[in-house]
Amino acid sequence: MGEWRRRVGFSEVTGAVFMLLAALLFVVVAPVRSSAREPWMNKSLSAGQRADLLIRAMTLDEKITMVHGVHPIPVKGYVGYVPANPRLHIPALKLSDGRAGVGNGAKDVTLLPAPIAATASWDTGLLNTYGRVLGEEQWKKGTNVELGPTIDVVRVPEWGRTFESLGEDPYFNGQMAAAEIKGIQSEGPIADANMYLTMNQESNRGKINSVVDERTLQEIYLPPFAAAVSGGDVGTFMCAYVKTNDVYSCENPHVLNGLLKKQIGFEGWVMSDWGATHSTVGSAEGGLDQEMPSDKYYGQALKAAVENGQVSVATLDEHVRRILVTMFRHGLFDKEQTGNWSANARSPKHDLFSRKAAEQGIVLLKNRGDILPLAGVSSLAVIGADGGNKPQVEGTGSSHVVAPYVVSPVEGIRKRAGAGIRVSYADGSNLAQAGSAARAASVVIVFVNTIEGEGHDRPNLELPGNQDQLIAAVARANPKTIVVLNTGGPVLMPWIGHVRGVIEAWYPGQEDGNAIAAILFGDVDPAGKLPLTFPRTAVEIPTSTPEQWPGIDGRSVFSEKLEVGYRWYDATGHKPLFPFGYGMSYTTFRLSHLVVAPTTAGPLPLDVHATVNVTNTGRRAGAEVVEAYIGQPVANGEPPRQLCAFAKVFLKPGETRQVKLSIDPRSFSYYDTAAHHWVSPPGRYTVMVGTSSSDLPLQREVTIESATN
Ligand code: BGC
Repeated sequence: MGEWRRRVGFSEVTGAVFMLLAALLFVVVAPVRSSAREPWMNKSLSAGQRADLLIRAMTLDEKITMVHGVHPIPVKGYVGYVPANPRLHIPALKLSDGRAGVGNGAKDVTLLPAPIAATASWDTGLLNTYGRVLGEEQWKKGTNVELGPTIDVVRVPEWGRTFESLGEDPYFNGQMAAAEIKGIQSEGPIADANMYLTMNQESNRGKINSVVDERTLQEIYLPPFAAAVSGGDVGTFMCAYVKTNDVYSCENPHVLNGLLKKQIGFEGWVMSDWGATHSTVGSAEGGLDQEMPSDKYYGQALKAAVENGQVSVATLDEHVRRILVTMFRHGLFDKEQTGNWSANARSPKHDLFSRKAAEQGIVLLKNRGDILPLAGVSSLAVIGADGGNKPQVEGTGSSHVVAPYVVSPVEGIRKRAGAGIRVSYADGSNLAQAGSAARAASVVIVFVNTIEGEGHDRPNLELPGNQDQLIAAVARANPKTIVVLNTGGPVLMPWIGHVRGVIEAWYPGQEDGNAIAAILFGDVDPAGKLPLTFPRTAVEIPTSTPEQWPGIDGRSVFSEKLEVGYRWYDATGHKPLFPFGYGMSYTTFRLSHLVVAPTTAGPLPLDVHATVNVTNTGRRAGAEVVEAYIGQPVANGEPPRQLCAFAKVFLKPGETRQVKLSIDPRSFSYYDTAAHHWVSPPGRYTVMVGTSSSDLPLQREVTIESATN
């Protein structure tokens, strides 16, 4: 710089400054002036009108640029990128993974508990905040398309991405997805519902063919995605790696054009999962709007297909239009996007939320003799690698978040225990040592985990390594043993009869130790409930045959049909270890005075409500989730009961509140494959209300009188 000053004279400097100012003025003023003149920049027009005007101004090359990503990405960060078009004022699309926080190696972001932990709160308000935190951090990082949430129904308990999804019930997943999506989109980014459709396993995921009948598709796998549109107004969808009934999801006209765009009425755009596009013409005709992450099929190949008439200009325009309409609707042309990948997205508020979400998702599964909350304890032994410096706080794969810090269980417990309680630690690698540490303490807390992630399913439902033996050895040494599970899904518990307490803490995120300590010591009442069934044995699961999972000859047959998750246990009479919707509290509750109205209904649309009184009958404040299930007339051929409403209520000791439940109108119907639509046959339907899928003491009948749709 000094050298440059010495060599140039005064007039040259003035000239340079003048040029610089002129250039700056051009940069600042020119686009504003010209954009004001561009008709599609007129905010008083609708998104559709603006997109139509813009498409008219686009060249073929400019249209092609919109329908694929560029790879490698020319800017820092992000996993998908579509460059800006300065001529037409189209902003760049910057896509980033985000399931439990901003992914793709971003620094200075918050690691939230895994999505399955958040949904275990059964609190749509919490999911909405979860989405807002994620959306705010993505926006600060410059992301305008947030790749999440993952909302597929968990069909196979071994699925490697169970931790990343929301649960095993279509209605539940839909409610949670809509709440989270609204939160994300309220902060700026467009959300992305993924992975569409029948993406229920990682094994052979690039080729597997999900063979599924139409009724099951409509009733089990489609509803969360339909709710993402109707309840969440989601802007984009990600089509999946798998095939649905022989055709890859990203070129499947029935799945994309038929179910998603026509039946559900989705008006946004569909992008492919990374590398999930397999063709040019087939995909363009089948309903894929955008290829990610590169231009293999939608670059020059698509341009050539349009030029030689294999793909019509109208088809290309339709894909471009869906992208532009969504961008206009979500304000991407009008909002300033000043975020950048290097920005700090964290805040103390988000750290606090991460902790709260982890606490609210923790599920107390067993508490024999009220060993919890810990009281009058002089010494504690924390055992297990997962309890020390190797805690499993998140899943692996594209959802990975670089945690800003992690509070390990032993750290959190020591901090909370204070000077009065001696806390020892053993990593459990040596069973004899773990046994003597256990013997020396008044109470033992064993931390165990699974490592789950994208790209592979778990080989089975067992805890990996020597963890089952570790628990058994510790419980033999000290019967006052509590097991804390850091898993993304269910595990078998051969030792269950020998331990006093079991807690499912999922993948709890950066606040792991603080959250678990708050539950163990009773600072927070456990109020989480299982969003998944926990089976008793490896074979007593809905998908126990190899034809179902991982599939034979590339086919995974959904022969369990509607009997997914708890529906299978109810239909077959198998008793799970812990049922869907189950979770204990340190206090007790009573449900009473169930009123369902009207008791005679029809024609559609049905508007049935239930009210029920919930009383906290214990001595501590706590929260209860009230769950309602519907039983249809046998002739309808539906599973015995299906979740149709739920609500969470916080109560002080002795307090009673009336909880109102709006019953999902769909619960009074099934999908008629002959008629190709939902029907509500007349008959007696039972509304069952309680606190888990297998504890439903209150019941009322609703008579549906008319079958008209
Ligand atoms: C995953 C997607 C993810 C994408 C980009 C894929 O392998 O299935 O969920 O968004 O990678 O990272």
